Amino acid sequence: MISNAIEIRPSAGAVGAELHGIDLAQDLSGETIAAIRAALGQWGVVFFRDQRLSEARHIALAERFGTININRFFRAVEGWPQIAEVRKEPEQTKNIGGGWHTDHSYDQIPALGSILYAREVPAFGGDTMFASMYAAYDALSDGMKHTLGGLRAVHSSRHVFGPTAQRDGDGRLGNADAATQDAVHPVVIAHPETGRKALYVNPGFTIHFEGWTAEESRGLLETLYRHAMRPEFSCRFTWRDGSLAFWDNRSTWHLAVNDYHGQRRLMHRITLEGVALH
Ligand code: SIN
Repeated sequence: MISNAIEIRPSAGAVGAELHGIDLAQDLSGETIAAIRAALGQWGVVFFRDQRLSEARHIALAERFGTININRFFRAVEGWPQIAEVRKEPEQTKNIGGGWHTDHSYDQIPALGSILYAREVPAFGGDTMFASMYAAYDALSDGMKHTLGGLRAVHSSRHVFGPTAQRDGDGRLGNADAATQDAVHPVVIAHPETGRKALYVNPGFTIHFEGWTAEESRGLLETLYRHAMRPEFSCRFTWRDGSLAFWDNRSTWHLAVNDYHGQRRLMHRITLEGVALH
């Protein structure tokens, strides 16, 4: 697929596409920004290769798509509060984002998505997987769609970023006392830009259905997670230095594969503000 000299190479059937022919360090035309937005809407995550972005250009790029959300838990890159560091050092065994999740679903107004730029990647491993929550929703039975249509779910950051979770912290996260609020969102959302329906619960942050106990919620949530993890709804991105991924949190989950112990992986992440979900 080629449009406006941009080549779109799908990564898999349901989610992800590489966009070629764009130098993200340049001042991009409105037409190019619109083409990236359209591809993001369709594919849920778009990937770029061989980019050379300074911190300032990374920020300038993000600002073409919206307002930057300054992450309250991640350590920021020194001198650049807008950029969160996603780091794993050779001696560390735990990575950041190692289970399936949707960033910021614990916020009342969840973030639109993130632009993750590879600064230093391991020689092997450290891929990121993405899953389409459009595809997951579409493949449910009519009966399940009907049931889920009437449900809302509670999402929380406490168990991931709160004081107990950060007790043995290594400095990569902080501000544990800010992990106080929970948020309630529909279990099925209409994507604010595309209007497509997407499943909006995730293993990282969803704690129970509204009005149900955690115990009562567990079985149905696990059924939905097992369904959403089907391989045909996912893609896997292998990073190289200079690779960049821009994902939409409303239509995808992601997971950072933790299979590169003994090597450094350093990514810079900028997150964009979203809108209320319905
Ligand atoms: C994240 O969950 O935001 C990090 C993803 C990654 O490091 O691949």
